[in-house]
Amino acid sequence: MASVSSSLSSSPSLSIHFSPYTIEYAKTNEEFEQILDSHRVDRNDEIGRGIIGRVVSTAHGFAVKLFNAANLEKKSIQTKFLQLAFYEARILQRITKEKVRHVPHLRFLVKGNLQLAIGMDRGGPTLRELYRLKGKIPSLTEIKELSRRWLYALNDLHKLEIIHGDIKFANLSRKFIYDFSHSLLTEDIIRSKTPLCSGWYRPPEIICGEAPTKAVDLFSLGAVIFELYTGAPIITELRLKNYIESALDHLNKLEGLMQKSIPHEFQANILSLLDLDSINKGLEENSFPINVKTFDERIDEMAKKRKDQPKKVELLKSFLRGLLDFHPERRLTAEMALMHRFLRREKVTVLTTSGKASKKARLNN
Ligand SMILES: Nc1ncnc2c1ncn2[C@@H]1O[C@H](COP(=O)(O)OP(=O)(O)OP(=O)(O)O)[C@@H](O)[C@H]1O
Ligand SMILES: [Mg+2]
Repeated sequence: MASVSSSLSSSPSLSIHFSPYTIEYAKTNEEFEQILDSHRVDRNDEIGRGIIGRVVSTAHGFAVKLFNAANLEKKSIQTKFLQLAFYEARILQRITKEKVRHVPHLRFLVKGNLQLAIGMDRGGPTLRELYRLKGKIPSLTEIKELSRRWLYALNDLHKLEIIHGDIKFANLSRKFIYDFSHSLLTEDIIRSKTPLCSGWYRPPEIICGEAPTKAVDLFSLGAVIFELYTGAPIITELRLKNYIESALDHLNKLEGLMQKSIPHEFQANILSLLDLDSINKGLEENSFPINVKTFDERIDEMAKKRKDQPKKVELLKSFLRGLLDFHPERRLTAEMALMHRFLRREKVTVLTTSGKASKKARLNN
C-alpha cells in the first residue's frame, strides 16, 4: 500500500501526496483543469484514444488517461462510466513498482466531479503501430525477448490476483503492457458481466460465456505471439468453423453446469466473431488474407521464409500450443510459460579478455 509521505498541500484542492503517487480532489471543473496544468498536462498531444478514455502526454514525460463523463446524457450512464474509470484506477493503485514489472506505474490521480485523470509512466508505440500498421514482423529472438517481458508482467499481475483481460496488439508495447480498463480482480469475477478480451484474442471459454480465469491472458498472449511470428491473426488459422467446433466441444463438457447462462452469451459472441470476420475482410489495417492452412503449416511456412532453425521453431510451436490450449485448466500458466524451453536464453561461447572461453555469458538480446 502507498504510504503518506507528506502532508496536505494548500491550493487549489485537497491534495494528498502518496508515495509514489499523489491523489488530488477537484471540486469544480476549473479546479480540475488547474490541477492538470500543475502536472503540465498537454491536452493537445494525444498519444492514444480508446473506447472510454483519451491518453495525452505531460511535459514531465508521463502519459495521462483522461475520462470525462460530463458529455454523457443519462445520469445512469455517467455513473457506470465513472465506476469503470475508478475501477481501473483502483487496479492501478495495486500495481506498485515493487510488485509488478513491465507495466506503467501510477504517478498521479486527479478526481473531479464527473472527471478522472490517471497519470502514469509513458511507454512507446504499441505493437499495432510498430508492426501491424507497418506490415512488419519482429525476429524470433525479439519475439522471445518480448514474450519473456510480457510474461513477467502477467505473472506479477496474476500473483496479485489481477486478470488483465484485454491482451492484444493495441495494448502491448515493447516496454509495457497497457490498459487496465478490462482488468478484473479475481475476487470480483462473480460480478463481471461483460466478456473479457477482444476479437480473435478472446479465448474459447469466454466465447462460451464461462467465468474468466487468469488463463484468459495466456490464450490472448499466445494469439498475439502467433500473429507476431506469422503476420496473420490466429483466428483466420483456426478458422471460425474449427474455432466454434472446438468451443462447442468444450461447451458440451460443461453441460449441466452452465446451461442457463450459455446459450444467450454464446450466440452473442459467435455473432460478434462473425462480424469480426467481415471486419477482417473489410478494413485495411485488419485485412489479412484468409488462410485455411493449419497452425503447423502456417508456422512452418513462415519459418522457411524467416530461415529459422527447425529446432527453435519446434520449441515455438510447443510453447504456443501450451498457451493456446482450448481448455483453460490445461493451458500454461505465466509461471510455467516462463520456464518453457522456448524462452531459455541461449548460452554462447565468448572469449574473455584473457583469451579463455567462457560459457557463462548469455545472449543479452
Ligand atoms: N502509459 C502509456 N504510455 C504510452 N502510451 C499509452 C499509455 N497508455 C495508453 N497508451 C496509448 O493509448 C492507447 C489507449 O489507451 P488504453 O488502451 O489504456 O485506453 P482504452 O480507452 O482502454 O482503450 P481500449 O478500451 O479501446 O483498449 C493505447 O492503445 C496506447 O496507444
Ligand atoms: Mg486499449
